[in-house]
Amino acid sequence: EMKKTGFPENFLWGSASAAYQIEGGYLDGGKGMTNWDTFVRIPGKTYKETTGDVAVDHYHRYKEDIALMAEMGLKTYRFSIAWARIYPQGTGDINEEGITFYQNIIDECLKYGIEPMVTIYHWDLPQALVDAYGGWESPQIISDYVNYAKTLFRYYGNKVKYWITMNEQNIFTSLGWLTAQHPPGKFDDQKMFYQVNHHAFMAHAKAVLAYREMGGTGLIGASFAYTPSYALDCRPENAMAKYNYDDLKNFWWMDVYAYGRYPKAAMAYLKEKGIAPVMQDGDQELLKQAAAAISFMGVNYYQSCVCEYNPMDGVTPYGTMNTTGVKGSAQEIGIPGIYNNPANPYLKTTDWDWSIDPDGLRYCCREITSRYALPIIISENGLGAFDQKTEENEIHDDYRIHYLKEHIRALEEAVTEGCEVLAYCTWSFTDLLSWLNGYQKRYGFVYVDREEADGGSMNRYKKDSFYWYQKVIQNNGL
Ligand code: BG6
Repeated sequence: EMKKTGFPENFLWGSASAAYQIEGGYLDGGKGMTNWDTFVRIPGKTYKETTGDVAVDHYHRYKEDIALMAEMGLKTYRFSIAWARIYPQGTGDINEEGITFYQNIIDECLKYGIEPMVTIYHWDLPQALVDAYGGWESPQIISDYVNYAKTLFRYYGNKVKYWITMNEQNIFTSLGWLTAQHPPGKFDDQKMFYQVNHHAFMAHAKAVLAYREMGGTGLIGASFAYTPSYALDCRPENAMAKYNYDDLKNFWWMDVYAYGRYPKAAMAYLKEKGIAPVMQDGDQELLKQAAAAISFMGVNYYQSCVCEYNPMDGVTPYGTMNTTGVKGSAQEIGIPGIYNNPANPYLKTTDWDWSIDPDGLRYCCREITSRYALPIIISENGLGAFDQKTEENEIHDDYRIHYLKEHIRALEEAVTEGCEVLAYCTWSFTDLLSWLNGYQKRYGFVYVDREEADGGSMNRYKKDSFYWYQKVIQNNGL
C-alpha cells in the first residue's frame, strides 16, 4: 500500500517574519519611531549594538523575497505590520505610504497564490504612545490598538483571511517587565507585568470583536509562545510544580484567549501577593465574548521545559539536577516555592541552549485540542544556528533540515491523533534580525549576506533547506 501523508489537502505550509526583524527602512516612507528604534540605541542592550535600521532590507526587496517564496511553493506567508508605518504617531493621521507598502506585499503574495497571514502586533510599538502614556502600561493603549487594528481590517480585510492579533504576548511582557531584556527594560516589576498583560488581553479581545462587528469572516486569533512542561519525575511536589508552572506560564494566556478567564489558582496566588491586575467592570464579559469569537490558537513552538519543586530557600533537595535554570533568552529560573526549570538531560540543545524536542510540539497540539478544542496554527517553529556560506555560495544546513523534519513528523502524529492543525509556519523564510542576537543567529531557508555591522551585499542565497522544504510542500509533508 502507498504511504499517505497525514496532512489535510489544503494544509498551509508557510514561513513567518516580523516587520522590525526583516524590513529595515526604519525612517522610510513616513514611518514613525518605535520603542525598538529607541531601545536598540541604548548601549549594551543588543548583541554588538545591532539594530534593525536596515535589517535585511526587505522594505526594498520584498518583491525578490516573495518571488523566492513562490519558487519554493509556499502556501502562506506570515508577516507583521509595523504600526508606526500606518500611524507614525500611533494614532491620529494615517500614513498612506505605509498603507500602500503592505497593500503591495499582500498583492504580491496573492499574485502567486500565497495566502497572506497578518500579525497585527509583533512588538514594535510607536514611540509616540510610549512618550504620551507609557504604552502598554496605560489602559489608553487599548483604544489606540483597536483603532489601528480596525484600520487594517478596513484596508486589507477583503484580501487577508488570516489575522493574528498579538505575537507572543507572554514573551514581550516577560522580557519587557520581568527580565529587562526588551523595551521598556524594567526588571521584576511583577505588578506592572500583570497589568500590562491585562491591557494587552483587552486590546486583543476588543480587536477580535471589532473584526466580527465589521463583518470579518476570516480567521482571527493570537499567537502564544508555548513552552510545554514536563514534571522532573513522579514526586508529587514535582507534579505540583508543573501544575503551578502551567497555570502561571501557559494557561494564564491560553485560558484567556480560549475561555476568556484567568486560571483560578494562579489568580489566587497573585491576589495573595498583591500583584493581581486591576480590571474594569465589563472586562471579564468582553474577554468571554472574544474567546467565543476566535478561530484558532496560534502557537510559536521552540522548546519544552522541565518543572521541579523550588523550595523557598532556593536549594533543591534533589541534588543531582542542574537547578540554575535553563539558559536562553526566553527562559527563567522559576519562582521560589512555586516551581523551578532545570535542564532536561534527555534532550540536546541548540547553540543558544534551547532544548530540541520535537515531541513537545505534539504535546502542545494535544493539550490545546483536549483543553480548548480549538483549531491550531503553528505560527512559528525553527532552528537558530550559525550557518556557513561556502565559496560556491552554498549553505549546507542539514541540521536545520533534521530539526524541521522531526518537528513535522511530530506534527503529523498530532494530526493523525485528531488535532485540527491548519498551518505550519517555520521561523523564518529569509535570515533576519534576532532581537537580541544580531544577524549571526540564522533561521532562514534563504541566507542573507549581512553581518552585525551594516554592509554586506544583502544578496540572497538558497540554503539546502530551501530545496528540502520545497519538496515537503510538493508532497504535502509525506
Ligand atoms: C519568537 C519571536 O520569540 O522567536 C520571533 O516571535 C523571534 O520574533 C523568534 O525571532 C526566535 O527568537 P530568537 O531570540 O532566537 O531570535
